[in-house]
Amino acid sequence: DVVDWDPEDAGKSGYDHYMLKEIYEQPQAIRQSTRGRILELDGSVTLPDLPESIVEETDRVQFVACGSSYYATQYGAALLRERGIPTQTFVASDYDVERIPLESGTLVVGVTQSGETADTLGALRDANRAGATTLAVTNVVASSAARECDATVYIRAGPEISVAATKSFASQQATVAILASVLDGRRPNPFLGGLRDLPSDIQRVLDTSNAREIAAEIVDADAYFFIGRGYQWPVALEGALKMKEITYAHAEGFPAGELKHGPLALVTERTPVVALVTGSNEVVEKTVGNVREVESRGAPVVVVTDSPEDVAHLADFVLEVPETNPALVPVVTNVQLQLLAYWTAYELDRPIDKPRNLAKSVTVE
Ligand code: G6P
Repeated sequence: DVVDWDPEDAGKSGYDHYMLKEIYEQPQAIRQSTRGRILELDGSVTLPDLPESIVEETDRVQFVACGSSYYATQYGAALLRERGIPTQTFVASDYDVERIPLESGTLVVGVTQSGETADTLGALRDANRAGATTLAVTNVVASSAARECDATVYIRAGPEISVAATKSFASQQATVAILASVLDGRRPNPFLGGLRDLPSDIQRVLDTSNAREIAAEIVDADAYFFIGRGYQWPVALEGALKMKEITYAHAEGFPAGELKHGPLALVTERTPVVALVTGSNEVVEKTVGNVREVESRGAPVVVVTDSPEDVAHLADFVLEVPETNPALVPVVTNVQLQLLAYWTAYELDRPIDKPRNLAKSVTVE
């Protein structure tokens, strides 16, 4: 007998797509990303690959990145700024070292899963030429980004096959959170417990998510909107990017407060709105106000929250995440958005691992 065997499927370990496999690998990916970098007894975090001299000389940070990696830098920038480290983020293709002053003490950090994205490499090269200290945050050992930079910190997510970034994004989030803590140097480190719990928090989402059922309810839509505030804003952007990449539906992310300044005109009963409702009472209250605005226009509302008892009444659908350190909730929240995008694309029978027109690694500028 001949068994029908497709070498393409061999690596999927029984999952229909690499993307789903990689989503489910995230607890392990985060364990790898944080291994040896959390010093429980000392109450601190560390990046042994980042030379102490760079840590000491860094007064400010410029991130350069593309795509999902860019959203990971926006999340990282929010953490760094909160710790008093002035931080800018640049889409790598728009980084113009002639016009952007490189003050002394600036660390230019290129975040790139593949380490081969031409735009990011170009920005790092320009920064190097202008005399900046450069750091690569990448998944691929000895990649071009690693070779270009003064130092490299690996995210250690493991190989990612699906074009849409999933576990690499989570590992980038964890790694930039550690970078923020290392540059800040505070002890005991406030992220310690949250970082340690991330794998089990993500596992809980994977074990209990109802994203598949919700996807089946919202699959027939004109567009999807994602809203979030503060740390969750970049996750709203990433959630929308994932949705558009693999479903081909129109999807956009907004800071929740901007909804009323334009996007609200697009909201109808055929535009599901995914609202990320976590954080301080004040942030939650404001976002709840935004949710009410879309609800009154008849939009189906999906709320992603760690406090369902407070907000479930507002929503048509709830995606719950475990309570954790507010700065790290975005890592867990994003897993629900990955699943929502995946199952929506699955309903539509899209070629999830290889969306039309997209490449895993873009080596042209
Ligand atoms: C491509 C991929 C995206 C990725 C982006 C940046 O567009 O399709 O998933 O986020 O490149 O890739 P990098 O390897 O630099 O993180």
